[in-house]
Amino acid sequence: MRRVVVTGLGAITPLGVGVRRTWSRLLASECGIVNVADREPAVRWKELPSQVAGIVPKGHRDEGKWQASDWLTKGEERRLAKFTQYAIAATEMALDDAEWKPQTQEQREMTGVCLGSGIGNLEEYYDTSIAYNETGYKKVSPLFVPQLLINLGAGHISMKYGLQGPNHAVTTACTTGAHAIGDASRFIALGDADVMVAGGSESCIHPLALAGFSRSRSLSTAYNDEPSLSSRPFDRDRNGFVIAEGAAVVVLEELGHAKARGAQIYAEVRGYGCSGDAYHITAPREDGHGAFLAMKRALKNAGIPPKHVDYINAHATSTPIGDSAENHAIESLMVGDEGLSSASQIAVSSTKGAIGHLLGAAGAIEAIFSILAIKDNLVPPTLNLHNIEEGFKCNYIPLTSQQKEVTVSLSNSFGFGGTNASLVFSKYK
Ligand SMILES: *[C@@H]1O[C@H](CO)[C@@H](O)[C@H](O)[C@H]1NC(C)=O
Ligand SMILES: *[C@@H]1O[C@H](CO)[C@@H](O)[C@H](O)[C@H]1NC(C)=O
Repeated sequence: MRRVVVTGLGAITPLGVGVRRTWSRLLASECGIVNVADREPAVRWKELPSQVAGIVPKGHRDEGKWQASDWLTKGEERRLAKFTQYAIAATEMALDDAEWKPQTQEQREMTGVCLGSGIGNLEEYYDTSIAYNETGYKKVSPLFVPQLLINLGAGHISMKYGLQGPNHAVTTACTTGAHAIGDASRFIALGDADVMVAGGSESCIHPLALAGFSRSRSLSTAYNDEPSLSSRPFDRDRNGFVIAEGAAVVVLEELGHAKARGAQIYAEVRGYGCSGDAYHITAPREDGHGAFLAMKRALKNAGIPPKHVDYINAHATSTPIGDSAENHAIESLMVGDEGLSSASQIAVSSTKGAIGHLLGAAGAIEAIFSILAIKDNLVPPTLNLHNIEEGFKCNYIPLTSQQKEVTVSLSNSFGFGGTNASLVFSKYK
């Protein structure tokens, strides 16, 4: 199999626009979660049990904030779903960072896109449904269908840059970003492409989305007045996840291709493992077996024993049952025969304390954090972790980042429907 490396990164998150801005604020223990109760329509927002969300800050590009006109033409802004807008901007950053703009026909044919979203354009669904019911056929825009389809994110990226390699859109709920990167790495390893743009994007900060996740009892409801405390993975007082928006994109490249053009190499993609819980629509198995299998397969694929993993970016969303299941899986896999002698040696953090849960983009942004941990030998913190849940035994990097030589990192992503994936990255040698 051909080796695959990471040569470019791009991101838009509740901590800001740009990978460097997001990463430095994350390392400084800042939080991007805010109260959303004052949004319009007030009657819909104010009745919600959860009124916090991770929102991309609005403003100028120079200040690390989002305004669509910095990235898109007026026409694009009107035609493209928000998640597609974020995906295009994150792709532009990643391609710039990789210094890869395919010029020849052959280069375009060997560069593909693998990018998904968990939910897509909920707002358009909602608005058009209401307008249709009130007024009928005339109110349905010709852009309605192209605005809904999740693969149009990948489609628009390919059109903008002329990328004619594999064009694929994953949609596996909160595992989307990780599956997109894993699948893209396989396209390269198997020779279908030399370069892949891969990641996830999400923007569904809409009262209906919060209502739905509240009904499934998934969201944090106890910290509406203190939003920065609301996402608290592994903490005793966690009580649900915090919905967030954003996008993250990596440029993956075949090793020889990257070397031949002198590209910077952040890390190597070493392993990818997937599994299904085969258990329940929203809840994980308590013993974390799905997570255990995904991590085990990813490490087997990488040919790396558990004891060589220096950092785990956990999926841990701050729900009571999800964090416990994943923690159980991590401790069972990492301690023992091929593993470490004690759980306290495992460095694991959940960056959702700072940015919330980006759903379909979560796996991609967390892969980027796992890659940067390798590049900078810095492990990002788990915010709000004041009282570690009883019985949890790892080093969860509470409150502040830690310096640590990171040669191998692992990133977990799990989604509704019982789908689990893990990615393994290592320093390129
Ligand atoms: C549309 O709205 C009306 C009320 O204005 C309601 O009676 C009707 O059932 C709705 N139709 C559909 C298909 O939802
Ligand atoms: C595996 O995926 C399921 C999807 O529902 C998720 O809820 C669960 O957290 C994952 N498994 C574990 C044990 O973490």
